[in-house]
Amino acid sequence: MQALQDVTLELSPHEVVGLIGPNGAGKTTLINLLTGFDRPTSGTIELDGRDVTGWNPPRRAHAGLARTFQHGHVFSELSVRENVELGALGVAGAGEARRRARELLAALDLERHERLPAGTLPHGEQRKVAVARALAARPRYVLMDEPAAGLPESDVEPFAGLIRSVRDRYEAGVLIVDHNMALMMEVSDRIEVLDQGRALARGTPDEIRRNIDVAAAYLGESVMAEDERVRAEDERVVAEDERVRAEDERVVAQDEDA
Ligand SMILES: Nc1ncnc2c1ncn2[C@@H]1O[C@H](COP(=O)(O)OP(=O)(O)OP(=O)(O)O)[C@@H](O)[C@H]1O
Ligand SMILES: [Mg+2]
Repeated sequence: MQALQDVTLELSPHEVVGLIGPNGAGKTTLINLLTGFDRPTSGTIELDGRDVTGWNPPRRAHAGLARTFQHGHVFSELSVRENVELGALGVAGAGEARRRARELLAALDLERHERLPAGTLPHGEQRKVAVARALAARPRYVLMDEPAAGLPESDVEPFAGLIRSVRDRYEAGVLIVDHNMALMMEVSDRIEVLDQGRALARGTPDEIRRNIDVAAAYLGESVMAEDERVRAEDERVVAEDERVRAEDERVVAQDEDA
């Protein structure tokens, strides 16, 4: 099977591009191709005008391309701070890595967790750690695969602010994939829609919203249904985190009583 066909995507520094589409549309596959985790059977990948199609992921990373993964990928035994510092090491010295980690932990409201093993954090917080790690390398382009999944609703707005500041302060290009349509419409300068491995539409958030309204029978329902499914799943995960936390607190309180 072909996961993607005839897809062209351009990302410039200083812009946020949103990539949306239903489950299995090929969004992760596209990120994998751009970052070198998959190879295209035809076509080329260029980074700042250089053909990098044959480059492996570390070489692309070194040239300024960073990513986050759809499924976690934090070093669970390492502390939150160490996870973030790791993102900077290799491109910066230890002192600079520490400085960047401190800045990013503050920006992402992760300071209170900085000493904890990353694996003990709730789902959504672990994704923030992964985002901070990617940003610590000060990439010129960063591709994020569902970074806001599992974030409590109250964290979405600050997260949107962070995405914008990556564009405005670091002048990096951001490609973001997420099923949270409110977030996508808010942060994206333009949006690309994939469906079944093909580019279906592109435009400003307003244009895409109108497009979705018009094409609701086809695209809208599948995207919105998926959005609903993911949101329900996020809520379940957050509720589960809450339950575990409450249980921990109960056990601690019991220990203290005993
Ligand atoms: N390693 C693989 N081997 C075979 N098929 C794959 C593989 N990875 C993805 N696919 C298929 O390629 C298509 C695109 O998958 P992809 O993961 O890129 O979708 P997606 O848009 O990221 O979906 P989601 O929103 O669920 O993350 C799907 O049909 C998927 O089943
Ligand atoms: Mg995916």
